[in-house]
Amino acid sequence: MKRRKGIVVPLVAILAAAAAGVVLGAGGMFAWKGNNIPKKVRLGEATYDVLVIGSGGAGMHAALAALRKDKNLKVGVMTKLPPTRSASTMAQGGMNGVTGVGTNVKDTPELHAKDTIKGGAWLNDQDAVEFFAQEAGKTIFEMDYMGYPYNRQEDGYIHQRKMGGSSQPRAAYYMDRAGHAMVHTLFEQCLKQNVDFISECQMLEISMGGEKKDQLNGVIAMDMRTGNILGIPAKSIIIATGGYGRAYWIRTSNPYSSTGDGIVAGMNIGIPFKDPEMVQFHPTGLAVNGVLLSESSRSEGAQLKNKNGERFMEKYDPKRMELSTRDIVAQSIAKEMEEGRGVGTGINAGVYLDFTVIKPERVHAVLQQVYDLSYRFAGVDITKEPVLIAPTCHYSMGGLEVADFHTCETRVPGVYAAGECSCVSVHGANRLGANSLSEVLVFGKVAGEGAADYVKGRDYKGSQDGLKAGCKKWMDVFEEVTNRPHLGNRTVPEIRDDMVNTMWYKCGVFRTEEQLQEAAKELDVLTEQYKNVYVGDPSHVYNTAFEQYFELGNLLQVSRAIVQGAIARKESRGGHFRRDYPKRDDQNFLKHTLIFKNDDGDYRTEYKDVAITLFPPQAASPAQPAKPADGKQPAQPAKEAK
Ligand code: FUM
Repeated sequence: MKRRKGIVVPLVAILAAAAAGVVLGAGGMFAWKGNNIPKKVRLGEATYDVLVIGSGGAGMHAALAALRKDKNLKVGVMTKLPPTRSASTMAQGGMNGVTGVGTNVKDTPELHAKDTIKGGAWLNDQDAVEFFAQEAGKTIFEMDYMGYPYNRQEDGYIHQRKMGGSSQPRAAYYMDRAGHAMVHTLFEQCLKQNVDFISECQMLEISMGGEKKDQLNGVIAMDMRTGNILGIPAKSIIIATGGYGRAYWIRTSNPYSSTGDGIVAGMNIGIPFKDPEMVQFHPTGLAVNGVLLSESSRSEGAQLKNKNGERFMEKYDPKRMELSTRDIVAQSIAKEMEEGRGVGTGINAGVYLDFTVIKPERVHAVLQQVYDLSYRFAGVDITKEPVLIAPTCHYSMGGLEVADFHTCETRVPGVYAAGECSCVSVHGANRLGANSLSEVLVFGKVAGEGAADYVKGRDYKGSQDGLKAGCKKWMDVFEEVTNRPHLGNRTVPEIRDDMVNTMWYKCGVFRTEEQLQEAAKELDVLTEQYKNVYVGDPSHVYNTAFEQYFELGNLLQVSRAIVQGAIARKESRGGHFRRDYPKRDDQNFLKHTLIFKNDDGDYRTEYKDVAITLFPPQAASPAQPAKPADGKQPAQPAKEAK
C-alpha cells in the first residue's frame, strides 16, 4: 500500500486502473475509450481550428498554448504513434534555461545566447537566439508549475548542470530522463484541457487547394488501425513531427519513427528545407547499437579514453575536455578511431566512456537510464568498467524554414512548424546539449499562439472536395503499392539498408567531395528502385509494410537534400566537416542553405543570409585535424573563440 499525507491508495487499485487503460490526469480521471481517433474525425465531421501533427514536446506544448490563448478553439494532436511515444520521450540530459537561482545564479540570457551562437559556429540567426535565451528560463518555471518533477537541491531550488559547450550549469533535468518527464507532464495537461488526440494515424500529405493552390484544406492521413484514409479539415496546422535520424539507421539514437515525414510534407507544399546538411552526430552512442548515453554522463564526470587509456580530449580541447561541443567531441572520437586508437573494428568499434571515476551512488541516483542501457545492451556494469561508445546520428539542426520566429509561421499561410522538424535557426551548425528540449517548449508555445491568432475570426476556407480527392489518390496509391507483384524488384529493407550505408559512410562525420558525389548517385539509383519497390502486404489493418514504404520514401528525399546541401557547402562548420575544405569560410558560406522541391520533384538550392544581431563571428573553435583520406596535410587547429 502507498501512503501519502493520510490518504491510503491501495496499490492493487492503481494497477487495476492501469490495466483497464485508465490514465490518472492532473484534472481527474481520463478514460482511454479504446478509440485511437475521435468519432467525429472518423465520420469526417470535425474541423480543427488548430491541428498539430506530432505529439512530442513541441506538438503538445503548441496545443496547450493555442488553448491558453483561446479555450474555445478546437485543437487536435495527430500522431503516428501512441501519444507519449515521441522522440522527445527519449531525450535524456535536460533543458537549458536561465533561472538565475541555485547553481545557475551567475548565468544570464546573454551568456546563454553567446554559448549557443559560438557552439553553433555562427550559423544561428541571432535575433531568434536572443528571443530563445530570454524565454527558455521562463519555460523551465512554467514546466515547474505544470508539475515537472525536477531534480532539486537540498534548499529546494531546481538543480542545473553543465552540458557540453555551456559556460554555466544551465540544464534543468529529471534524472537522465528529462524528455520522458517532459512529455508526460505535457500529456497530463493536454488531457486536462480536452485536447483531441488522433493517434496511430499517419499524415500522408498536407492538402492545399484553391485557384493558386495556396488555400489550406487540411490533412490526408491513414488510420493505422483500420487502413482507412481520412481527410481532416483544418484552418491551421502545426508541423511538429520531429527529426529524421533514421536516414542514418545504421547508427542513430533516434526512434524508428524519426523519418522526416513532416519535412517532406512541408517541402511538397513549397516550404524550403533549411540547412539540411547540418546533421548532429552525438559523441556517445553505445558502440554496440548507437543508442544514446546521455551527455549528462560527461557532465557528471565520465571520461573519454582511447585504447591506451589516454584522455584524448586533452589534445583537442584541453580547456573544456569532455564538455566541449558535440561536433568537436564526435570528430575527435572519430579521429582517434581512424588513427588506430579505438577498440574493435567496423561499425561497432569505439572508444571508452569511463564512469568508474564517479561514485556508484551518484550513477545510481542520476544516471539510472544510462546504467540500465549499458547493462542491457552492452552487458557492462558502468560502475565497475568502462563501456564502449562511438558517435551516433542524433539530431537535425536543419528543418522546415520558419519565416517568422515570433509566430513560427512558414511561408505557406496557416502552416506552422516547431521542434526538430523546423529550422528557426537557433542551433546554427551544431546544437548544444539540452538546448533542444527548451527549444521545443519555447517555439512549440510560439507556434501554438501563432496559429491561435491566425484562426481568430477566420472561417474554414478549405475545400472538402480537395480533401476527398486527396483521399481517393492515397487509396489508389495504397492499392497499387501493396498489390504489386514481386518480379525481382527490390524490397523496402533492401533499399533502406543501402540508403543508410550510403549516408553513414559517405555523408557522415567526415565528408569529401568524392564521397558526397558518390552518395548523390547512389541515392538517385535507390530513388529509381523505390518507384517499384516490393511491399507485399495488401492488408488494411495495421499495415506496417505500407507504413515503412511511406517512411522510406520520405527518408530518401530527406537524404537527397542532406547530400545536396553538403556538396554545395564547401567549408567545415559545426556538424558538417569537409576533409577537403577543413576550415570555416565566412566569406562564402556564412549563409543558410535552402532546398526547394520543384514541381517535377527535382531540388533547387538557394541561400539566405544569417541574422547577425548580437555577436560578430569570431575565429573558429578548434577544428579537428582530420587526416584526409587522400593523404593531404591535415587542417591545423584554429584559435578558440574567447
Ligand atoms: O546527451 C543527451 O542527454 C542529449 C541531450 C540533448 O540532445 O539535448
